[in-house]
Amino acid sequence: MNLFEDTDRGRTWREELGPGAVVLRGFALASQANILAALSEITAKVPFRHMVTPGGLRMSVAMTNCGACGWVSDRTGYRYDALDPDSGRSWPAMPELFLALAQEAAASAGFRNFAPDACLINRYQPGARLSLHQDKDERDFGQPIVSVSLGIPAIFLFGGFRRDDQPMRVPLEHGDVVVWGGPARLRYHGVMPLKAGHHAVLGEQRINLTLRKAA
Ligand code: SIN
Ligand code: FE2
Repeated sequence: MNLFEDTDRGRTWREELGPGAVVLRGFALASQANILAALSEITAKVPFRHMVTPGGLRMSVAMTNCGACGWVSDRTGYRYDALDPDSGRSWPAMPELFLALAQEAAASAGFRNFAPDACLINRYQPGARLSLHQDKDERDFGQPIVSVSLGIPAIFLFGGFRRDDQPMRVPLEHGDVVVWGGPARLRYHGVMPLKAGHHAVLGEQRINLTLRKAA
């Protein structure tokens, strides 16, 4: 079911992807300038880096984090870590506006009391992709995932509960927010190789914020 909704963040268009999963079109647009300003402060302190998978592959997506803990990958596995392994220091605090945006998006999707403590920041340049995976390094699957897309468009793959279930292809644009939780929490998802493009503000890249309650 697709519905227009008038929210504090202006008129947004909701697209249900299935029980517990929704795309809130344009939900982040009203706060984009503040989001981008906060992002430049964060990435000046903790630059994007290409992490290595446990199998030894360099990820095509560059990542960094803010919040009490950050998602990291290296030869020993995936984990949330309170410290940036590159510097040994804490990640920058989660900006209040990321928290508010994530909580409003979650509430609008029916998830009250979302309390994210981790924000993974992904940078996709043309050709970068994220293979199908489940978000399952978090402790409490009762809390949803909120994902904010910025920059050039991408095709988000939203699959089922098995890696080989055929995923839906969901085009995501600058300002779109996807929320999945409850019965959808462990659905496989990923991102198709990013096509070349240009975004007026972000240039040749897509930035994605993924907010989670990790600890
Ligand atoms: C993720 O699954 O961590 C990111 C998804 C996205 O970039 O849209
Ligand atoms: Fe994910």
